[in-house]
Amino acid sequence: IYPIVATTRVSILGLVKPYHLVKPVSVTILPERSSHHQDNLPKLPVPPLRQTFERYLLMLEPLLSEEELDHTRKLVKEFLIPGGVGDRLQRSLERRASNKGNWLTEWWMQSAYLDSRMPVAVYSSPGVALPRMTFQDRQGQMRFAAKLIAGVLDFKKMIDSETLPIEYLGGKPLCMDQYYQILSSCRIPGPKRDTVVNHAVGKVAPTHITVVHNFQFFVLDVYNSDGSPLTVDQIYMQLEKVWNSSLQSNKEPIGILTSQHRNTWGKAYNNLIKDKTNKESVRAIQKSIFTVCLDAPMPQMSEQRYQSRVAAQMLHGGGSRWNSGNRWFDKTLQFIVGEDGTCGLVYEHAPAEGPPIVFLVDHVVEYMMEVVRTPMTPLPMPPKLRFNITPEVKKDIESAKQNMNIMSHDLDVNVVFFSDYGRNVPRAHKLSPDAFIQMALQLAYFRMYKMCCSTYESASLRMFALGRTDTIRSCSNESLNFVQAMEDPAKPNAEKVFLLDKACQAHREYTHMAIHGQAIDRHLLGLKLQAIEELTSMPEIFMDTAYAVAEHFHLSTSQAGAKTDCVMCFGPMVPDGYGVCYNPMTDHINIAITAFNSCEETHAANFGRGVKKALRDMRSLLEETANAKQ
Ligand SMILES: *[C@@H]1O[C@H](CO)[C@@H](O)[C@H](O)[C@H]1NC(C)=O
Ligand SMILES: *[C@@H]1O[C@H](CO)[C@@H](O)[C@H](O)[C@H]1NC(C)=O
Repeated sequence: IYPIVATTRVSILGLVKPYHLVKPVSVTILPERSSHHQDNLPKLPVPPLRQTFERYLLMLEPLLSEEELDHTRKLVKEFLIPGGVGDRLQRSLERRASNKGNWLTEWWMQSAYLDSRMPVAVYSSPGVALPRMTFQDRQGQMRFAAKLIAGVLDFKKMIDSETLPIEYLGGKPLCMDQYYQILSSCRIPGPKRDTVVNHAVGKVAPTHITVVHNFQFFVLDVYNSDGSPLTVDQIYMQLEKVWNSSLQSNKEPIGILTSQHRNTWGKAYNNLIKDKTNKESVRAIQKSIFTVCLDAPMPQMSEQRYQSRVAAQMLHGGGSRWNSGNRWFDKTLQFIVGEDGTCGLVYEHAPAEGPPIVFLVDHVVEYMMEVVRTPMTPLPMPPKLRFNITPEVKKDIESAKQNMNIMSHDLDVNVVFFSDYGRNVPRAHKLSPDAFIQMALQLAYFRMYKMCCSTYESASLRMFALGRTDTIRSCSNESLNFVQAMEDPAKPNAEKVFLLDKACQAHREYTHMAIHGQAIDRHLLGLKLQAIEELTSMPEIFMDTAYAVAEHFHLSTSQAGAKTDCVMCFGPMVPDGYGVCYNPMTDHINIAITAFNSCEETHAANFGRGVKKALRDMRSLLEETANAKQ
């Protein structure tokens, strides 16, 4: 599932408020963070049963015919009979909530991520594309990578000392747990369900990163023996050694195995680690703090297509003949630096949402601007990780290559730089920028398909301990009224503006409800999983077509606001849908749109043009109406 990033702009007004005494910088982390801040966060509530189903029916109104709605209303009524199935499941959920730190998180992590058998590349892991850097050669690539590594280590200092500034949303402090899950962790494939290991919580926290170049992995120790991080110049020298001992690109792209369907990879994994050397090499990657992929240059592109190509490179590496083998997709955090000035990252989604990742990127980018040169002490050669490629492993690699090539050909990526305006315009008209952009997406979709669709926007639940996400349903009766009016030449502008206002207001209300734990999607999921757990028969409301329609998100969207002029991207959630992620800056908006080429009905570039036009039309509408009033 692709509920990606948090949504509502997290205010990082932040205030360094150390919530734990700063301990001397060291690479060992206390296993238990006894933090006052974390302990005081409220628990995620279970919303009232009848409230959820009232809202469920409202949400379905724009998506269903009157007949279908009537059917669903009947099923809901049955489900809600006092003392019936609904009440029983609700009571069980409430019991679960009182026994657990967060009734949802474990279930969500499993059902959204670890149980999913689709490849993590394209289908789950988001990427972040940074603007093109000025370097065009290996020296530039390594210097940039060295600074970037130093920047991440600087960020890690705050994690190790538990001095990360606490984030706030709507004046409330947020759960910071996700920050502790993104370094030194890795997903591990299993035959039916994957797991995530986090080595940061062990007694001896890892001190190395992995660097991959020409499909060859190296262990790079990034701390001196006194515990101080390597300087940029030291890291640069180490990277140069890595580069020099991996000039040949004729090696087997072992990492491409991690891009497979999870069952396939699970089998290949067990086969791979039967060999002791392989097992140790895999373990070194899994334990490493993060991975840096030094990518080979990609084919040249027009400036206009460049960012779309970079987004694709972040999501899948470009196919087996390019950089798809230069990854370990199970690794939580992989920074990607190409010889051609490309940079960004890809992250495995199970442990965290976008905002911590984006916050890290902002920190690193800022750090990189300030970095100074320092004296050098010589260091040993970073060891190369060895893999024994048995005929069986070779076969698995060939099949992973084929699969990756199909996946990378199938992904249609379009990055739009909308430069007409940014947050400034909706703000000037007293509209929430996020709601405004969501309405532009609704309008673009409606114009293209003459209908609206089930729309997912991720909402942060981090106001609650260990909170992840819920769903903002951006498609509402109000959004439908607005887009229909926009397509109706008979409607006066004043009415369109009124309806836009209403639609944005409805979106804001839903957002408010969602971040306060009162949205419907996770509650419905909880009831369903509770029914499965109790081994009762599946209640009919979950077998209803309406439920399937509601869950089929043609638009899967997320706002990933960053200070850095970057854009996050992710694949569509359904075979015939779009993934849309945007970063609204003050005076422009970066938007990444994905679709699948195998679907005839979707087209990322057409949708991108539609979104631009919608944004332009909505601005004109607001300005013409405002002028007419004067
Ligand atoms: C790597 O190779 C280049 C070019 O051959 C050479 O100039 C440089 O000194 C080498 N670096 C290291 C660290 O071995
Ligand atoms: C939603 O829109 C439909 C169709 O226009 C209308 O019949 C219904 O009453 C509306 N519902 C609400 C709650 O406004």
